[in-house]
Amino acid sequence: MLNCDLLIKNGEIATASDSYKGDIAIKNGKIIQIGEIDCKSSKTIEADGNFVTPGGVDGHCHLDQPTDDNSVFADDFETGSISAAFGGTTTIIPFALQIKGKGIKAAVNEYHKKADGKSIVDYAFHMILTDPSHNVLNNELPDLIRSGYTHFKIYMTYEALKLNDLEILKVLSKARALGAMAMIHAENDDCITWLTDLLLEAGKIAPKYHAVTRPTIMEQEATHSAISMSELIDVPILIVHVSNERSMREIQKAQSKGLNIYAETCPQYLFLTSKDLDSKGFEGAKYICSPPPRSLHDQEQIWLGIKTGVFQVFSSDHSPFRFDSDKGKKVEGSETKFCNVPNGVPGIETRLPLLMSKGVLDERIDIQKFVSLTSTGPAKIYGLYPRKGTIAPGSDADLVIWDTKNKFTLSNSLLHHNVDYTPYEGFELNAWPKSVISRGELIIHDGDLNAKLGRGIFLKSDLPMPARTFDKSSLLDRIEKKVF
Ligand code: URP
Ligand code: ZN
Ligand code: ZN
Repeated sequence: MLNCDLLIKNGEIATASDSYKGDIAIKNGKIIQIGEIDCKSSKTIEADGNFVTPGGVDGHCHLDQPTDDNSVFADDFETGSISAAFGGTTTIIPFALQIKGKGIKAAVNEYHKKADGKSIVDYAFHMILTDPSHNVLNNELPDLIRSGYTHFKIYMTYEALKLNDLEILKVLSKARALGAMAMIHAENDDCITWLTDLLLEAGKIAPKYHAVTRPTIMEQEATHSAISMSELIDVPILIVHVSNERSMREIQKAQSKGLNIYAETCPQYLFLTSKDLDSKGFEGAKYICSPPPRSLHDQEQIWLGIKTGVFQVFSSDHSPFRFDSDKGKKVEGSETKFCNVPNGVPGIETRLPLLMSKGVLDERIDIQKFVSLTSTGPAKIYGLYPRKGTIAPGSDADLVIWDTKNKFTLSNSLLHHNVDYTPYEGFELNAWPKSVISRGELIIHDGDLNAKLGRGIFLKSDLPMPARTFDKSSLLDRIEKKVF
């Protein structure tokens, strides 16, 4: 008879392609068998017909990142990973940020020090390239990509982070040569500056004006620009945190031309609107993130984009700043201008329960789409598949057993992040992870955490799956051929 360490009985096992009743046998942290299993197991969990999904892969979250004001990210690898795990996420991919003037290897080394001994779930790193010097592009980046850091983010906005078009072209051509995945934050920085100046001159400083500085047409324009550079170079890119219909249509148009454009959206674009920024007093600061939440119409369109396959990734963009703190949203006080408020909303724990509740159980999407967006898609795009992102023999036993029978009202007091609010306070949900398993260890069961700090391991990423397949003919030949 088969021997295993853990047996999950009678689950509704869901992957990105199927959903079926069965048992899962786990040994040495890996899934060894799926089906109707008769085995000798040290431990058995009865799933009772509940969904069993692959552990979530959060392809975009910010933990313990340096800032350029006096604000401090409220979550580090300890609190961030614990919060992630309670919400059913067993792999996190936060960002090693290059400081302008310094190297990217230094940033990666520093970030390892911040993660070491802290994370309770497995993690990979995205890099953020802010200074693509000759040395970074020709020495550091190639070395890092070969060593398992195969994806990075670049910004078109934020003074301390943004690249100009020349730099973006150089970076994208390197990504093409090396097979890496570039994630692009697409917003038009000059327009943001111009509108910010106009608003401040008019004395309009409240949090809601953050949304006015970032009209959808200019996110669309930046998205179009990023796609054009990707098309010129013929390199896959992923547009992060797409917030609205206009930008989504640019992506859809590019995808329908056969371009390798991938896209991410986040809970804040399905569940919040710009009206939230217009909350009483300084409360709107809680919802300041970039791009900002949009209209109800945009929400509906993003749902449609999820349903029809425009998006491959659903991330939290967890960007945790405490509200009532001089290290958080009030770093410049509570009377301050919208442009002095740290950007970002928390959501690492609520990402999966929100989409399971409002997406799957409310019948907007099926369970396969849920798994694809929250786990399989990011695992493939960031080179972690099939170790992560699916339920299959040989894959890591990262699993979530869901409770979808109990309705409850979400409140920040139920969450484990180090933030003093959730933007989703008061939401009625009927899905929450009952058991969370990471590499065969039952780290959460019925609300109890049983995981040693630092048990999470660093995951080297393979080259991203979409980037492995594109045409790698000479870049100049390709551009010349288009001209003549
Ligand atoms: O407002 C946001 N999203 N802050 C986090 C940084 C980023 O651009 O993802
Ligand atoms: Zn961004
Ligand atoms: Zn982000």
